[in-house]
Amino acid sequence: MKLNKEFKEYTRDILENEDFKLLKNDSHHGTNRYDHCKRVSYLSFLISKIFKGNSERAIKAGLLHDYFHGTSSYLEHPSICALNAKEHFNITDEEAEIIKTHMYHYALVQKLNPFKGKEDKKNAKEYRPTSKEGVIVCVSDLLVSIFECGIFKVRYNACLYILFIINLMRY
Ligand SMILES: [Fe+2]
Ligand SMILES: [Fe+2]
Repeated sequence: MKLNKEFKEYTRDILENEDFKLLKNDSHHGTNRYDHCKRVSYLSFLISKIFKGNSERAIKAGLLHDYFHGTSSYLEHPSICALNAKEHFNITDEEAEIIKTHMYHYALVQKLNPFKGKEDKKNAKEYRPTSKEGVIVCVSDLLVSIFECGIFKVRYNACLYILFIINLMRY
């Protein structure tokens, strides 16, 4: 209960902001970007408690890490989100840095991919988190994304299964 109160205190203004609410219209991993950001923020908050990080920083950067409308590429959207977050919510430089580096997990996979060129491999350094909260938000984003894609897959498979049953019933 105390945790929820603290979480609400730091997120209220952002969650009630009209521009941020528009993220509900953007689909993301089979869900919407608003819910995705909220999940990442809450998980970042819990992990920051465990590892004694700065909770406010983890919550805010977690909530704003995917704050962009429409579409963007995997490695371009972090900078766009940091700019949007600065413009609308006056975040600190540390929080902006966390947002900019939240795709380190993706950049790292590109680096390890033997089919990628030197340019992609260079990128990984740029995206390396520079703070404890940066690592926390990056890991939370990865975990939440895996969870969301899993749910999406289950739903997708369930739909296929239902269609298959309906098809069988026709005969
Ligand atoms: Fe992202
Ligand atoms: Fe994300």
